[in-house]
Amino acid sequence: MKVLVLGSLNMDLVMEVSKMPSIGETVLGDNVSYFFGGKGANQAVACRRLGVPVTLVGKVGNDTFGDKLMIHMNMAAIDMSQVKLEADAFTGTAAIMKLPEDNAIVVLPGANQLVTPDDLKEAVLEQAQVLLAQLEIPPATVMDAFKRAKEKGLITILNPAPYHEAVEEMLPFVDYITPNEREFRRMVQTSSETESFDVEAAMLSWSKKQETQLIVTRGSKGVSYVLEGKVKTVAAPRMAVTDTTGAGDTFNGILAATLAKKEPLETAVLKASFGASLSVTKMGAQSGMPSEKQLAEFMAKQANNS
Ligand code: RIB
Repeated sequence: MKVLVLGSLNMDLVMEVSKMPSIGETVLGDNVSYFFGGKGANQAVACRRLGVPVTLVGKVGNDTFGDKLMIHMNMAAIDMSQVKLEADAFTGTAAIMKLPEDNAIVVLPGANQLVTPDDLKEAVLEQAQVLLAQLEIPPATVMDAFKRAKEKGLITILNPAPYHEAVEEMLPFVDYITPNEREFRRMVQTSSETESFDVEAAMLSWSKKQETQLIVTRGSKGVSYVLEGKVKTVAAPRMAVTDTTGAGDTFNGILAATLAKKEPLETAVLKASFGASLSVTKMGAQSGMPSEKQLAEFMAKQANNS
């Protein structure tokens, strides 16, 4: 059993600020910290912590951030043999403004932007059972990988983040799609931010037209998915939130790990959703991602309390 994660590696610069500067304005922040991140790297770590072997395919630049990411990911027991060093690019960097209400993120893709279809070797694809990808690398590379993965009978999971319109073309090659609510609104082509958007009705209508299994992550409202023509929702356990960065990545990594273990969809969504809840209790995208044991203990505790 092996999961292949195709995606980005970033160094996250987390700036704690009480307000966003307007254009032309300077504000003083409170703190800066550096964390390992990037949706690809984060999802690989979440998956590996559940005991599933993971190969990551991606690129870093020839700089200090790239070196540090390679060391860190090797120490996290991820197979990094398919992560290449791009001499003429900088390592992906994310400027994360941690505001009291939520995060705002600017991603500078750097080397991530240079991942091409050739970077995913046929032999590497053949060794895996699940392919998990996001959209912080070129969509054309993701599309090509999904096509090839489906030809080889892999389970394919697309986390359409950040959203790109190429998602629609990818759908015939995607078994599971995991947008958050905002991305799902883009998928159904509404930019409505109002409460009147009926997510569940939109999910049912979308699912009638598509074969891809839809799973929408909804933050504190939990996770909804369509099963046998109905929307099921797993409620999110109440947590003391420290940092929501990487919660979606934790969800996707655990989902891939659990599906790779051939557990049913209901179990996979439940585990992924509880894991994502645990992840928000620590600062940084990867720090709060649970091990298999931590997740099992947390789920048992929640079951006893209910
Ligand atoms: O999903 C969280 C990640 O998004 C961060 O780690 C940051 O690198 C951005 O890519």
